[in-house]
Amino acid sequence: MKRVLPDLIVDPPLADEKVTIVFHADGKQYDFPVLGGTHGPKVIDVGRLYTETGYFSYDPGFMSTANCDSAITFIDGERGILLHRGYPIEELAAHADFLEVCYLLLYGKLPNQSELHDFGDLIGHHSMVHEQFKRFFAGFRRDAPPMAVMVGTVGALSAFYHDKIDITDPEARMVATHRLIAKMPTICAMAFNYSLGRPFLYPRNDLSYASNFLRMSFGIPAEEYVVNPVLARAINRFLVLHADHEQNASTATVRIAGSSHANPYACVAAGITALWGPDHGGANEAVVNMLEEIGSKERIALYIKRAKDKEDPFRLTGFGHRVYKNYDPRAAILRESCHEVLAELGKKDEPLFALALELERIALEDDYFIQRKLFPNVDFYSGIMLRAIGFPTGMFPPLFALGRTIGWIAQWKEMIEAPDQHIARPRQRYTGPPLRPYLPIAQR
Ligand code: CMC
Repeated sequence: MKRVLPDLIVDPPLADEKVTIVFHADGKQYDFPVLGGTHGPKVIDVGRLYTETGYFSYDPGFMSTANCDSAITFIDGERGILLHRGYPIEELAAHADFLEVCYLLLYGKLPNQSELHDFGDLIGHHSMVHEQFKRFFAGFRRDAPPMAVMVGTVGALSAFYHDKIDITDPEARMVATHRLIAKMPTICAMAFNYSLGRPFLYPRNDLSYASNFLRMSFGIPAEEYVVNPVLARAINRFLVLHADHEQNASTATVRIAGSSHANPYACVAAGITALWGPDHGGANEAVVNMLEEIGSKERIALYIKRAKDKEDPFRLTGFGHRVYKNYDPRAAILRESCHEVLAELGKKDEPLFALALELERIALEDDYFIQRKLFPNVDFYSGIMLRAIGFPTGMFPPLFALGRTIGWIAQWKEMIEAPDQHIARPRQRYTGPPLRPYLPIAQR
């Protein structure tokens, strides 16, 4: 998908650009420096706000707060632009293999042929999991949500690979990073097969990342699995589109967990838990459930009405985004992928897809959605595509986690390696009872 992107260069801040805060009560003034990035809004550095003024800044939900410097991903939500290391998502989704994107996010540049080959070898070297690890799965009920199994098993990696979890050692950090990229598809496919009572398949390192994952998910040991190139391309694209998304809830969680110098496997497990919620990575599952509940085009109006009713907790899942106030570029690409996958599988008339297209059309003509700039997000179409490929809804969030692992781990590394790294420790506005003496139990 080719898009002409606008010029994004912003004016750098002036050498001594500052913001002055004036306290009207006593007339005192304080200056705070303004910092600029490559693109995007400038930031006011309030790190010394408390020591200089005695005040905290207050911003629940981080509506206007930048939590870090990052050179990995840039989003311009007003214009629907997403860049990884400067490259537009449309170009990466159209041309790049997922491992190329992993390399890009991790090392900051696109690999040449031999670098990509060596990286593939390295990841392949780590793609199996310890034999003992398989037995770990047996502790879970078969009907456990695969995402719950992912939280437990990914966290357990630190019990299996604790030889390289010294986060102060650059080599150990890199090995843990490679292990996570390599083992995540194996674990994700194991969680899927475990839920179905099917045997686990070992990875095949001669296949691409996406093809290997498809084979481990749908293959059986008794037969050769023939990879469908259209489906492999769709999964590759899905993974590329989910690879990173700057400081979203799960990535911020990984950074916060990692800021205490916890091991990277535990941090990524924390990221998986944050991703699970229906407002984040659980939304792909919730969208398909919602479309099934709506059921027919005739009932769309009813659900649009419910989504607009402030007394009704129902929201149009797959719509809206904290950052995008324009079409999420990933949703547009996934809508095309749905067309390709459904055509390949002879399911062009898939009713759920027709319903989603109609829901999008109606919502985008509705004043409520127009005024609030609510557009389809990445989760709106992804579930329809994954379901057509054969994944049940419970596997959608684990697939999101599979794609996002590289973003989490690249951001974790960037955070640990930052020269001014501190433990993340937000402050609060206390609204509880005032100081009061302890009351002996007989007097309460
Ligand atoms: N349906 C109906 N109304 C909505 C929706 C929606 N999906 N999303 C936002 N609004 C309304 C909201 O009620 C509010 O209206 P008002 O100004 O009248 O009070 C306004 O739009 C702003 O919403 P908000 O909740 O303040 O926005 P937010 O940035 O805090 O929330 C969001 C962003 C993604 C949580 C929210 O849009 C939402 O709940 N969407 C549905 C869940 C979803 O699709 N999540 C996936 C997000 S993208 C992938 C990912 O991050 O993993």
